[in-house]
Amino acid sequence: DAAEKGGWPSFMAKEITEQPEAIANTVRGRIVGGTADGDGAADAAGGARVEIPELTELGDDTLRNIDRIVIIACGTASYAGQIGAYAIEQWARVPVEVQLSHEFRYRDPVLDERTAVISVSQSGETMDTLMAVKYAKDRGALSVSVCNTQSATIPRESDAAVYTHAGPEVAVASTKAFTAQIAALYLIGLHLGRVRGTLSDADAAAAIRAFDALPSAMAEAVETHEQIAQLAHWMADTRSVLFLGRHVGYPAALEGALKLKEIAYIHAEGFAAGELKHGPIALIDHGQPVFVLVPSPRKAPVMHSKVVSNIQEIRARGARVIAIVEKGDTAVLPYADDVIRLPLTDALFEPLVQVVPLQWFALELSTAKGLDVDQPRNLAKSVTVE
Ligand code: G6P
Repeated sequence: DAAEKGGWPSFMAKEITEQPEAIANTVRGRIVGGTADGDGAADAAGGARVEIPELTELGDDTLRNIDRIVIIACGTASYAGQIGAYAIEQWARVPVEVQLSHEFRYRDPVLDERTAVISVSQSGETMDTLMAVKYAKDRGALSVSVCNTQSATIPRESDAAVYTHAGPEVAVASTKAFTAQIAALYLIGLHLGRVRGTLSDADAAAAIRAFDALPSAMAEAVETHEQIAQLAHWMADTRSVLFLGRHVGYPAALEGALKLKEIAYIHAEGFAAGELKHGPIALIDHGQPVFVLVPSPRKAPVMHSKVVSNIQEIRARGARVIAIVEKGDTAVLPYADDVIRLPLTDALFEPLVQVVPLQWFALELSTAKGLDVDQPRNLAKSVTVE
């Protein structure tokens, strides 16, 4: 057992640390045509492109014909879907919406052969998602599966399967599969954007460079473990934690909250930072811990300044602010009780590094409470009933 966990006390800890490799494996072979070795990523500016063979097989005309994308998933996979939606819409210029699988089927959704339904599922066996995929197929939609389990039912039922190659995930709470799902959805967005002619060369090159730098950025994010463990130790009696983010940081905040509910049994909620003043700010009381995912001041200056204002607002009402920032961002220092520093990356890629300390926080708080990190009560790794 100890050997299977690679020396870590839990599978979840091992799986958090495996993320740089999981991402590299998911991307490998899908960035092609660079000048050197066919791996391509290193020559981002030199003609490399994203090409997913499973999508190429569908035919470029089919991909050009899509006029709407619906991403369906449950749980953590749905937050990966929400993050992926921003990138796909930006690069492929197709409207993308995200629906929980069990809601999608019962709303009589508008679907036709120009709709692509992208399902996201680590296990490929989640019954709610499988039934939604079948429903969409029966109504003529194109179905693409993002899945981590080779030959699972959902990818077999789909027109194309884009596998995440995160490796087996044992802990019930998803970590490396989540970040690999985001990577796969981004690759799908880049492939669609190229085929549809909506992706500029500059954006393609920037995204490919960001992918290239991602494993080392994530490895650096993994190194926040010690700092987060101390924080969690001090916060072992906490009864409620809030998470704030904007843009792609918003679903990342939702995922941070879900992790805490799942394995530390703590009430946690994620909010879009801009929504604070419309209600949630009433929750802020003296000592209320709030994690804030702060966008990059270099890559997203407008959103950065808005989030800094949000921090000032909650701080003035007594919140204990834990700011997750890009290294070198000093704007938040006067208002933050704790600052977690992460490496620089592109704005769209920030959730991939920001979620890592949130995963560690849930794990360490669960550990501090003496709970079973890998096997939380009432939950199953894969829910195969509706
Ligand atoms: C279960 C697990 C979650 C997971 C969800 C979707 O509820 O406990 O961790 O996010 O199913 O699983 P899937 O295999 O479809 O990604």
